[in-house]
This record gives sequence, C-alpha cells and structure tokens, in this order.
Amino acid sequence: MADLSTNYLGLKLKNPVIVGSSGMSGTVAGVKHAAENGAGAVVLKSIFEEQILHEMDGYLNESQNDNGNSFHKGYQSVLNEREYDYDEAYQYLTDHAKDLTLRKFLSFVAEAKKAVDIPVIASINCTSAYDWHYFARRIEEAGADALELNVYVLGSNTMKNSAENEKVYFDIIEAVLKQVKIPVSLKMGFYFSGLATTAIELSKTGIGGLVLFNRPFHPDIDINSLETHAKYMLSDPSEYSHVLRWIALLSGRTECQLVATTGIHTAETAIKQLLAGATAVEVVSAMYKHGYPVISEIVNGIGKWMDEKGYATIDDFRGKMNQQSIKNPAEFERVQFMRLYSEIV
Ligand SMILES: Cc1cc2nc3c(=O)[nH]c(=O)nc-3n(C[C@H](O)[C@H](O)[C@H](O)COP(=O)(O)O)c2cc1C
Repeated sequence: MADLSTNYLGLKLKNPVIVGSSGMSGTVAGVKHAAENGAGAVVLKSIFEEQILHEMDGYLNESQNDNGNSFHKGYQSVLNEREYDYDEAYQYLTDHAKDLTLRKFLSFVAEAKKAVDIPVIASINCTSAYDWHYFARRIEEAGADALELNVYVLGSNTMKNSAENEKVYFDIIEAVLKQVKIPVSLKMGFYFSGLATTAIELSKTGIGGLVLFNRPFHPDIDINSLETHAKYMLSDPSEYSHVLRWIALLSGRTECQLVATTGIHTAETAIKQLLAGATAVEVVSAMYKHGYPVISEIVNGIGKWMDEKGYATIDDFRGKMNQQSIKNPAEFERVQFMRLYSEIV
C-alpha cells in the first residue's frame, strides 16, 4: 500500500488531503468528523476581522459616553476611527469587545486541538495589518499547530493603486511573522497584474506555504426583486483547472510550499494538483455536497491510483507535470483557444 504521508509547514501529515476552512471545521464536532474520515490536517473556520469589528460596533452601540452621546459611529466609522482619534474610553470598549470574540475563538482552537491527533491549523481572515499580530500570538498560545492567513484585496478601491493593494499582503505577513513561531501560510487572492511575480515575492517573506487561491463571494442580481444576493456559494468541480494552471506555473519557482484549493471534489482532481506540484489540497465544497466521508474517498482514491501506477510515495510523482517538467511548457500559459476559435466558422 502506497505511503501517502507528506510534510506540510514542517508538520507531518498522514496524507495530503486537508479539510479547508469553513463551517465544516467551525465546531469541535466538525473537526472530529474530519479526523475520523481520514483528513491529513484541518484548517479551522476563520476568525474574521470584519466579525470582530462588527461585534465591536454592536458593543459600542449599546454604550454611552459621559455626555449621553452614543458611542456608536457606524461600522465604517469604526474602520476609520481605528486609524486615529483613540480616546481612552473608546480604546477600552473596543479592546473589551475584541477580547470577547477572540476568547471564544481561542477556546475553540484549544478544544479542537485536544479533540484530534491531526495537525490543527487556525485561520485568520484579515483585510488589514491592524492588530493581527496580537491575535496571532494568542492563537499560537492556544495551541494551533500553524496559522493560515486568509487575505483578500479585491482591488476595487479606486483611490489605491496596485502597489498599495499588494503592500497589504506584505504588511500583514510581516506583522504576524514577528509575533509567532508556528509556521504560517497565506491563502491569497488572484487579482494581481503580476500574479506570478507577486506570489514568488510573497514566498520569500518567511511564510511556509501559499494556498492558491481563496475563492471570492460571487454577487448576483435578482432581475425580479432587483436585489443583490450571493450566488455559487459552493464551487463547481470544473473550477479546479484555474488553480491547476497556477500550481503548475509556480511549482519549483517559489520559496515555500504550494497548496491547491477550489474545485477539488474527487481523488482525480486532487492527484492532478499533486502532479502539478501541490504539497497538499484543501477541500470544502465537496464536503458540503457529500458529507465528511468524501474525504476518505479522496484519500483512498489517491492511494489506489498510486498503487496502480507503482508510486510508493507522494514525492515519487509530485510536480511531475509542473510547467518545468512537461514537454510543452507553453500549454499552461495558453489563454486563448486560437486553433479552436479559428476552426469554428
Ligand atoms: C460555507 C463556506 C464557508 C467558508 N468559510 C471560510 C472561512 O471561514 N475562511 C476561509 O479562509 N475560507 C472559507 N471558505 C472558503 C473555503 O475554505 C475554500 O477556499 C473555498 O470554498 C474553495 O474550496 P472548495 O472548492 O473546496 O469549496 C468557506 C467556503 C464555504 C463554502
């Protein structure tokens, strides 16, 4: 029987199938199910920067200052306020609200860690470098084996240029790495004009892994109610191909490990990502669709394929199909269906 074990972020995983961050890993019971179904590791549901700010906002809303004026300044103004104008009372209230949220999360990390014997990776969803070093250190103290930073800058702010948007990623990493000893990975977005260069530069910052990519919320418009709503919460199995391209292109070029996530619903797509150069894969939507047992199906499927192909270890085939190893490297950079289009008249 093939040996599926792999080393990710300096942690020994019994296989490369990681349960990705979501509601499926948002409770201790969920984390236990993930482990019972053979996951190599689990990334806990993120603590969100917005979640903390929102709770701070609610807390501030209920509080009154000495003049009887509401402390409530609205969510946006809390965002603005945090950059300047801290009076002592305001600071106390925001710290208190932040602590309540964080304490709940820390006890979840500690309980999850106690409940399973697979690596537990905590996740922070951040949009700025503000205060995250503080959360990261507390999460490390709670016992997380590693930390996955989920950063997404859409690039929609017309007042910011691309260099400023990219700087957010570097600032967050720098602030967190100063504070923790546990390994850190970055789950990044893909809206960069120079995606390959940025990913390579990010890989040099001291992080242990790049998780490609976080999957954005898909907004949609209801043409009858004229309201907006979220669509495509769960990925489609065809979505793996976008990530496959970038894993293949970046494999062998980064100074840290690569993890594939999005659209991995089967052993076949997991194997493709490993062949392209991924150290591991993260799975979420497939679990929402088919339950936790899909994890063991993917793990067993990888083992069966390895046995059939005569691969004894994951390293025997990892990266075998990355851009640097295939006969036609241009294949992963092709973006137009030139031949196909010209044949369709
Ligand atoms: C319901 C739901 C909740 C999620 N929550 C988080 C989260 O808290 N933190 C995070 O980094 N990603 C979160 N994600 C994104 C997943 O971790 C993953 O990146 C994305 O779903 C793509 O992988 P998939 O195709 O296997 O679903 C969530 C996804 C779903 C569907």
